[in-house]
Amino acid sequence: MYSVFVTRKLPGQGLERLRDLCEVTVFPEDRNMTKEELLEIIPGQDAVITMLANPIDSEVIGAGQKLKVIANYAVGFNNIDLAAATARGIAVVNTPDVLTAASADFAWALLLATARRVVEGDALVRAGRFAGWAPELLLGVEVHGKTLGIVGAGRIGQAVAKRARGFAMRILYHNRTRLPEDVERELGLEYADLDALLKEADFVSLHCPLTPETRHLIGERELGLMKPTAVLINTARGPVVDEGALVQALREGRIYGAGLDVFENEPALHPGLAELPNVVLAPHIASAGRETRLQMVDLVVSDVLAVLKGQRPRNLVNPEIWKREDSYE
Ligand code: GLV
Ligand code: GLV
Repeated sequence: MYSVFVTRKLPGQGLERLRDLCEVTVFPEDRNMTKEELLEIIPGQDAVITMLANPIDSEVIGAGQKLKVIANYAVGFNNIDLAAATARGIAVVNTPDVLTAASADFAWALLLATARRVVEGDALVRAGRFAGWAPELLLGVEVHGKTLGIVGAGRIGQAVAKRARGFAMRILYHNRTRLPEDVERELGLEYADLDALLKEADFVSLHCPLTPETRHLIGERELGLMKPTAVLINTARGPVVDEGALVQALREGRIYGAGLDVFENEPALHPGLAELPNVVLAPHIASAGRETRLQMVDLVVSDVLAVLKGQRPRNLVNPEIWKREDSYE
């Protein structure tokens, strides 16, 4: 029997599929495990299913004496020291594709809610301050026909762009590498460098991974390029935005608003952020659709089983570790 540790309770019954081959332990508490706790459990495990809030750094990986696979229950894997895992021949897998649509839907939920002041309206009604329809009550910025700027045009960024067509928007995008022309044409995307995108877009939505290059990609200078009527949406990773600079820009009305699902020092908020009326704050739930979260369990379970059986997992993030002849490729 192999040993598999799951760092947090997952929805559904998907883990049952592991039980023929593995002894499965699920962290019993309803919170994210600390690094110290991870260091304690990891030496005995053949596989771990981890959450994006678990710091799987070189020390934790180094303690995984029998570890063969780290399955991150997320598409982003910036919480894992990939180089350290690769150096030890440990497979790292994630959950792309199944969460693309749910995550794109949620970016739109934040965009619409921020632009049209849904949360302010909700608070007003609940507080008993709705005194009847009024011509100038909670006027927001309009969405349809405006310009959307997508930063990071991977799977989720492209799915957000597809949805923008229903709102008759012009769509600019910025990406590390430009997309093939036929993809640009099909999605109605115009390539722009980041500064040009920030200057022209009415909505800027972030969809890049967190890497050393994208840390504080949006800081004081970049916020300064945006229109005073523009809205920033972040469903990527908190540290892509300099949150202190964002609070300052929002406070001074240098941009119109922000819709945030992620935070720089999650779950802590930068002082002042929660007091601003022109932000919509969500607790990192972009992929939190019921069906999506069940499919994510299926993916991590399938890939853990694949690695333990010596087969190439489907969503291998570090393919360079897989040099075996029985691979599918
Ligand atoms: C969520 O943030 C994910 O990376 O899946
Ligand atoms: C608004 O409810 C309208 O009828 O214009």
